[in-house]
Amino acid sequence: MLLYKVKDFKELSRKAANIISAQVILKPTSVLGLATGSTPVGTYKQLIEWYEKGDIDFSQVTTINLDEYKGLGAADVQSYRYFMNDNLFNHVNVNKDRTFVPNGLTEDPEEACKAYDDLIAACGGIDLQLLGIGGNGHIGFNEPTDSYIKATHVVTLSENTRSANARFFASMEEVPTHAITMGIGGIMEAKKILLLASGKAKAQAIYDALYGPITPQVPASILQLHPDVIVVADEEALSLL
Ligand code: GLP
Repeated sequence: MLLYKVKDFKELSRKAANIISAQVILKPTSVLGLATGSTPVGTYKQLIEWYEKGDIDFSQVTTINLDEYKGLGAADVQSYRYFMNDNLFNHVNVNKDRTFVPNGLTEDPEEACKAYDDLIAACGGIDLQLLGIGGNGHIGFNEPTDSYIKATHVVTLSENTRSANARFFASMEEVPTHAITMGIGGIMEAKKILLLASGKAKAQAIYDALYGPITPQVPASILQLHPDVIVVADEEALSLL
């Protein structure tokens, strides 16, 4: 595991964007596993800036997102598809037909989950998976549980996660109760993983994930078993190390 300790969110965003750029420059046909949440927003902004300067070309890239709220579609501003269009895809030359986010409006979630795993396999697997981390150690929407779930699946969101994400909604009642998430298998099968964490609210989760026992109660702790993980975290997120 390679750990980059950076000063703050700004430095974290530049470092993460550098790593993603390097991936795309070295392999223009990369399959990027992408994440939502506040943490990667600065990274996406930096990538857009470099794209506008002509330093990075997304034309042959495929993207596969981690998760989506159940019941929300591309037109809903809180959906992760909307977030990705708004924060990255609309501003770079990625081919939108090769950007994938689970379909939150599917009428057959079981089939949609299976199709998502088939899609990851058909793309040849994920070259670089970007991850944030929940305050309770979740990755994607893989919540703390008694056992890891390997495949893409529908998950009931914990109250902890719903209240952490309530800031994006008008009220707590509007926060979806379920989501579709890539499973731990899809994440762990990525060739390289880039985990980002910023701020004090992530300090305990980062400590538990990197130094605690490997347990599904701290989903991110399984990353200790991955052969190629890069962690970029700021001083506050690393304050318990
Ligand atoms: C959501 C997303 C995760 C993300 C987490 C942390 O639950 N499903 O992928 O890592 O939030 O979000 P933030 O970066 O806003 O702290």
